[in-house]
Amino acid sequence: MTEWLKTAIFYEIYPQSFRDSNGDGIGDINGMIEKLDYIRDLGCNAIWMNPCYDSPFKDGGYDVRDYRKVAERYGTIEDLRRLFAQVHERGMHILLDLVPGHTSEEHPWFVESCKTERNQYSDRYIWTDCWFQRAEGFPYIAGECDRNGAYILNYFKCQPALNYGFLNPKEHWQKPLDHPACLETRAAMRDVMCYWMEQGCDGFRVDMADSLVKNDDETKSGTCQVWSDIIGQVQEQYPEIALVSEWNNPASAIGKAGFQMDFFLDWFGNGYNLLMRDYDENGRDDSFFKKDSRRSINDFLQEYLPKYDAVKKKGLYCLITGNHDMVRAAYNLEEQELKLAYAFLFTMPGAPFLYYGDEIGMRYQKLPCKEGGYTRTGSRTPMQWDDSVNHGFSEADPSCLYLPTDDRADAPTVAAQKERKDSLYHMVRELFRFRKEHSAFARHDNLEILSAEEGRRSFAYRRDDLVMVCNPSDHVERIDVNVTGMKVVFGIGAARWDQNGCVPEAQSFLIFQTVTEE
Ligand code: NOJ
Repeated sequence: MTEWLKTAIFYEIYPQSFRDSNGDGIGDINGMIEKLDYIRDLGCNAIWMNPCYDSPFKDGGYDVRDYRKVAERYGTIEDLRRLFAQVHERGMHILLDLVPGHTSEEHPWFVESCKTERNQYSDRYIWTDCWFQRAEGFPYIAGECDRNGAYILNYFKCQPALNYGFLNPKEHWQKPLDHPACLETRAAMRDVMCYWMEQGCDGFRVDMADSLVKNDDETKSGTCQVWSDIIGQVQEQYPEIALVSEWNNPASAIGKAGFQMDFFLDWFGNGYNLLMRDYDENGRDDSFFKKDSRRSINDFLQEYLPKYDAVKKKGLYCLITGNHDMVRAAYNLEEQELKLAYAFLFTMPGAPFLYYGDEIGMRYQKLPCKEGGYTRTGSRTPMQWDDSVNHGFSEADPSCLYLPTDDRADAPTVAAQKERKDSLYHMVRELFRFRKEHSAFARHDNLEILSAEEGRRSFAYRRDDLVMVCNPSDHVERIDVNVTGMKVVFGIGAARWDQNGCVPEAQSFLIFQTVTEE
């Protein structure tokens, strides 16, 4: 595995909303450069930036019109190169967002592909043979252009699927993976990756990485085959490239396709969502980190552990505080609950990913849809730096902002949280510092669950010489973990312990370390 990933702590930046340096109301690359010291001082040493390419922005930039051009709203290629250099100057790394499964319908490849006359791009996308032939089982569009056929979509209507082939083609129009046109798509995407590596980025977060091959089997063996070819070739030129997949199946993504990292994603009702987002509109909230929840950590572990075990010696199964696609954790969790949730996420194996603003508990805002954001829009609002105009995000007139800032009097800001010593910001910073000081966190195959009993809220786990004890509940609870002879080296709240176990107080998280004889 690429060495720096073992100690990487990622910060995700939604470029529209981080810092506007030129007062036009929207975040930009130079704004990011201004804030690199902030990110480094927080303790993050790596960045994932959402798509920054030319786009009609019908899906926040995940509808790419030109893979090699920086969107004007963010700046120029020179700005981006300067960002890469500034990141590296600080000993940090940066991943761009690669969108390999689809383009915008305005991408020149697609414009060509729509034409009646056959050309180089006719098979770059997946077309049926005839305008009234349905693409059975796939979302498809017919009747939009002169070409006699219907084409398949990968996500939204604005995102036609690129053609990497079908695992077991059943129809004449379905191409096998090794069809020349599908190999050309692969080569084109490989070139895009090499282009950006050449400009100085360190790798990619890969959007919908599992979506390339159609009619794929359960383990996505076709898609794995395509990736292992693409990644293998790119690695010949850039052996240090870092890749994290949006997949949520590490056995395939890391085990077979060749990614070094995969995300545990927020699929409805799954183990990850049960941690912080298990609520409904009727006020029910059984999220594990809610203090009055009844849930045990087993609901998470049952799903996490087999996936983690499958790849723990090979790559990183990563936990996130949130991202641009989900409701912010602060929507339903209070500050103390957030502290415990983050303490857990940041002490588990894998590289932690912190979504911008989550370090100060930025809230979700109910907002109308912006650029294909829908309910996700409320998690994409401007970063709240201080109490100046637009919370220090932009000097523009507030009515011109990309999205409104949180205008409530108690909106959290970086400046205010820096002032308050017991803030979420300080806890995150301290924990990141602690993480860097302990080699147990640089190994990722060392998770041992010590106590996770059904019917109990508290749980404990070990990583080498460190034992983590967490009690997310609103009551004191004894747990069966032996920490005698150990000392507390990091603590949120306190605990008592004796030969019979440990008694962490309500809403606490403690890290014990074995005391070594001098
Ligand atoms: C996942 C991205 O995170 C999301 O924002 C986007 O809408 C879809 N993929 C489609 O690219």
